[in-house]
Amino acid sequence: MIGNFTYCNPTKLYFGKDSLDRLNDELPKYGPRVLLVYGGGSIKRNGIYDAVLMILRDHGKVVSEVSCVMPNPTLEKLYEGLKVARESNVDLILAVGGGSVCDYAKALAVSVHCDEDPWEKYYVRFEEPSCRIIPVGCVLTMVGTGSEMNAGAVITNQETKQKIGHVFASEDVMPRFSILNPLYTMTLPHHQMVAGIYDIFNHICEQYFSGEDDSTSDYIAEGLMRSVIHSSRIANENPNDYEARSNLMWAATWAPNTLISRGKSTDWMVHMLGQAVGGYTNATHGMTLSAVSLAYYRHILPYGMKKFVRFATQVWDVRPEGKTEEKIALEGLEAMENWMKELGLSLNLTELGVKRDMVEKIADVTIVLDGGYKRLSREEIVQIYKESL
Ligand code: NZQ
Ligand code: ZN
Repeated sequence: MIGNFTYCNPTKLYFGKDSLDRLNDELPKYGPRVLLVYGGGSIKRNGIYDAVLMILRDHGKVVSEVSCVMPNPTLEKLYEGLKVARESNVDLILAVGGGSVCDYAKALAVSVHCDEDPWEKYYVRFEEPSCRIIPVGCVLTMVGTGSEMNAGAVITNQETKQKIGHVFASEDVMPRFSILNPLYTMTLPHHQMVAGIYDIFNHICEQYFSGEDDSTSDYIAEGLMRSVIHSSRIANENPNDYEARSNLMWAATWAPNTLISRGKSTDWMVHMLGQAVGGYTNATHGMTLSAVSLAYYRHILPYGMKKFVRFATQVWDVRPEGKTEEKIALEGLEAMENWMKELGLSLNLTELGVKRDMVEKIADVTIVLDGGYKRLSREEIVQIYKESL
């Protein structure tokens, strides 16, 4: 570990089958007005909405609602929610749903008392909030993003076709508490479950494929990756396996809650490529990542050879004897590709609706970061998108 760092994560987690009961401990800490935020209706169909509302009523809360928060929440929807939140002068925003709902709640939380346009302030200028931030609590129903324990909030501007994530530096943006009940994830459709699994895995890769020093963070990352691969195979065969689903939920929370990025630089280029695709296609987040990953990793492999060799041997159990470094590294990516196929992930952009003539425009809105093994040029970005078609 040669980097200097600070680590603080103030989100309190309640995990397990009875964890919703702990909402009873949390609600008295906040004022009477609660804004309940949720998605397109899954929580009404599986009973979570009724269970949450009953607890809110027991505590005498005055509840207002923003419903129909869509996957990849839009700026327009943010403006709509802002109106409701301001009119009801809320004390707590309770997000019940997946990453989209949790992200949306955080974006609202920093915008309600902001007198500037939130898109301009947070997503164009990337400023930190200078106003009061409304506390957020989450009841998580979809596993993948880690939004339940971080300060990220991704919003899509449909007008400019930009999907942009702001990971706020302020700890006050992180959820005050999150309730993680693996049973709540059992009603997820298979394709959402596997998209979430790849999202977890890729969050770990984004922090692993960078730096050259001997870092404890990388060893933790390897353990998490092995756990995700193991549990994903069980959950893929039997989605009702509680043990596997609970392990996935726990790994998802740790993947992007900043622990495994401590002391090192991070890459996040797969997310930048995937998010640019998301802005154009509105495709499922995890699938945009899986569709560009193999082309990207094969492209940067020569620049991060040692880490790719380590990935192959430590994560995928590739036997190194008698092989060149390049062969070992490529076998690691091949093992990853086979696992991705096993899960049924999208492995090309065409099935997500991307056409060859869209590639240049998607490249125009791709944010380029330089914490990984290679800073991509415009030509390389276009090449990776084309190879992913
Ligand atoms: O809207 P409803 O009806 O609830 O249906 C949702 C939605 O259609 C459904 N769903 C969720 N829980 C369910 C369920 N269906 C049945 N049973 C359940 N228990 O699943 C669909 C997808 O939900 P969504 O919240 O969109 O998925 P996810 O958790 O993958 O969130 C994706 C968003 O998070 C952002 C992504 O960019 C995307 O906008 N991310 C946030 C990050 C962060 N905060 O750190 C990092 C990630 O990399 C990611 O960028
Ligand atoms: Zn992600």
